Amino acid sequence: MVRVLYDGRLAVDIAGIKMKTPVTTASGTFGFGLEFQDFLDLEQVGAATVKGTTLEPRSGNKGQRAVETPSGMLNSVGLENPGADYFLKCTLPDLQKLDVPVIVNIAGSTAEEYGLLAKKLDVEGVDAVEINISCPNVRHGGIAFGTCPLSAAEVVRAVKANTSKPVITKLSPNVTDIVEMALSVEEAGTDALSLINTLVGMKIDIERRSPVLGNVIGGLSGPAVRPIAVRMVYQVAQRVKVPIIGMGGIMNADDAIEFFLAGASAIAVGTANFVDPRLAETISGGILKYLDRHGYRNIQEIIGLALPR
Ligand SMILES: Cc1cc2nc3c(=O)[nH]c(=O)nc-3n(C[C@H](O)[C@H](O)[C@H](O)COP(=O)(O)O)c2cc1C
Repeated sequence: MVRVLYDGRLAVDIAGIKMKTPVTTASGTFGFGLEFQDFLDLEQVGAATVKGTTLEPRSGNKGQRAVETPSGMLNSVGLENPGADYFLKCTLPDLQKLDVPVIVNIAGSTAEEYGLLAKKLDVEGVDAVEINISCPNVRHGGIAFGTCPLSAAEVVRAVKANTSKPVITKLSPNVTDIVEMALSVEEAGTDALSLINTLVGMKIDIERRSPVLGNVIGGLSGPAVRPIAVRMVYQVAQRVKVPIIGMGGIMNADDAIEFFLAGASAIAVGTANFVDPRLAETISGGILKYLDRHGYRNIQEIIGLALPR
């Protein structure tokens, strides 16, 4: 049973995922959600999108994994996670006790691996899978699935064939044409899109004269990327029919509103969780205040309002 919050004014249905508020958490910035329970009430979040999960446990990248940048951060965690079996046995039972949909972010290095993982996670308690396609495709020289429309579509088809859950595909912004990517995964059957993942960047320590991150390059996130994310949501929303979860640098309700106006039906709080671990709960109140201030009855009324008519 999904308890309704805010008189249902913020409720959204993202490809069958019933969310009390359109605010979810960006994968990798919110652990498995349970770690944040000392700070917020997880049941007040629209959905808990958990950290990137792989078939086997991964220890992640060596060396420094994160560094602050102007208006953001770079990370190269390398998908450290305890693996799908551990998640199913030790984490999911605790998440299931809560009245909050669970979205599991999945990663792999071949399309088959994504398919196997989707099959394993096709269990009660998992409400949707989100495909992280920003991973290197080992069959194609390590070029990320998310930068090639055909490879991305192949992953989506492999996941769709192996799950009964709604499938969200998370787009990488590291492409020339984001609309082409969105159309390709929509055609392959994705039920929803989320965007954006991080932008590739790097930082050099000038005293050591070497890259700061152990992995040399990393993913840029935070407010610095927000205008790019808003632009991509705006472009994609004009061309696809599936719902969009917008993310990238959202720090407060005003930032979130930009994404709704650009065509997103839900949003995710990412890097901001490191600054204010309560934000994924408190931001809903700010969205409601905006609706009140402008005389809108519910969140549906503002989705896509800034799009060309
Ligand atoms: C430390 C860190 C870890 C992340 N891990 C993942 C991940 O495992 N899977 C994924 O799809 N995205 C991952 N991301 C990307 C975020 O979910 C999000 O798409 C991106 O950071 C943009 O949103 P933001 O600027 O609000 O953080 C990670 C981001 C950060 C900062």
